Amino acid sequence: MADLSVTLCGKTLKNPVIPASGTFGFGREFDEIYDISCLGGVATKGVALVPWEGNPVPRIAESRGVILNAVGLQNPGVEKFIAEDLPWLRQKTRVIANVVGRTIEDYEGVCARLDGLVDFLELNISCPNVKCGGMAFGIRPEAIEEVTARAKAKCPSTPLIVKLSPNVESIALNAQAAERGGADCLSLVNTFTGMAIDIERRRPVLANNTGGVSGAGIKPVAVRMVYEAAHAVSIPVIGIGGITCAEDAVEFMMAGAVAVQVGTQNFTDTRACPKIIAGLNEWCDAHGVARVAELTDTLKLNERRKTC
Ligand SMILES: Cc1cc2nc3c(=O)[nH]c(=O)nc-3n(C[C@H](O)[C@H](O)[C@H](O)COP(=O)(O)O)c2cc1C
Repeated sequence: MADLSVTLCGKTLKNPVIPASGTFGFGREFDEIYDISCLGGVATKGVALVPWEGNPVPRIAESRGVILNAVGLQNPGVEKFIAEDLPWLRQKTRVIANVVGRTIEDYEGVCARLDGLVDFLELNISCPNVKCGGMAFGIRPEAIEEVTARAKAKCPSTPLIVKLSPNVESIALNAQAAERGGADCLSLVNTFTGMAIDIERRRPVLANNTGGVSGAGIKPVAVRMVYEAAHAVSIPVIGIGGITCAEDAVEFMMAGAVAVQVGTQNFTDTRACPKIIAGLNEWCDAHGVARVAELTDTLKLNERRKTC
C-alpha cells in the first residue's frame, strides 16, 4: 500500500483526489452513495455573499467527449452554507470553499466571513457563465493580481487558492499575477467557453447561448496549462480538467500538480473519486512508488530537434 497523503500549504490531505467545485454540491448526495470521508478534500459549489438563482434552463448540453454548462453559479449564499453544510462537511474531510462574486467587494466579503472556518478558500475568478464578475476578473494579469491581493487581505488565517481560467493568452503570466497578489496555491483549469447548436431549431442548445466546456476531451489542453503554470510559479498547483481515472491523475501530477480535482466524471460515474483513489494505490504499487507525492513534477521533456 503506497502512502497517498499529500501536503498542500502545510496541511495534510489523506490523498490528492478532490471533487471539483460545482460537480459535487456540498457532498451530501454523494455521501449517500459512499462515505465521502475517503476523499482528500471537497471543493464546494461556489459560495456567494447572498443566494444566487443561476441561469435559465437548459443549462447543460452534451457533446462528444465533453459537456457544456451554464449553471450560472446558483448557490444558497454564505450564511446558509455556514449554518447548514459546513459543520457536517468539516467532520468528513478537508473543506475547500469555492468563492464567487460579482464585484471585488463580494469576494472580500465571502473570504472575510469564511476565514478560519474552512481549510482552504478557492477564489473562482474564472467562471464563464455569469454576466458580470466571474471570468472578467480572471483573464487580465492586473485584475487577477488586484482581486487576489484584496481577497487575501481578508483571509489571513486560511490558505487562498486562486482558480485560473483557461480562456486566456498566457496561463504562465496569469499564474504569476496570482502569485504576486499573494495566492498560496493555484488551481486550474476552469471550463473553456463554448457553444452547441440545435441545428433543427437553429438556436444554441443552452438558454445562455454559450457555456463552459468540461470533461475528458479537455484533458490534453489542461495538462499543458498545468505544466506551464506550475513551471512559472513557486506556489503549489492543483490540476483540473477531464480527469476520469487514476492514470489521468498521475499525468497531472507528473506535469507539476500536487493534487487533482475531478469534475464532470462525477456525473458519468458517481463513484469516480473513490475509484481513482483505489486506482492510484494500485498504480503506485505496480510502479514501485512508495509515496504518491513523489510523482509531482517528475516529467522529463523530450529533446526537440530544431527544424528551422
Ligand atoms: C455543472 C458544472 C458546474 C460548475 N460550477 C463551478 C463553480 O461553481 N465554481 C468553480 O470554480 N468551477 C465550477 N465548475 C468547473 C469545475 O470545477 C472544473 O474546473 C471544470 O469542470 C473542469 O474539470 P472537469 O473537466 O473534470 O469537469 C463547474 C463545472 C461544471 C461541469
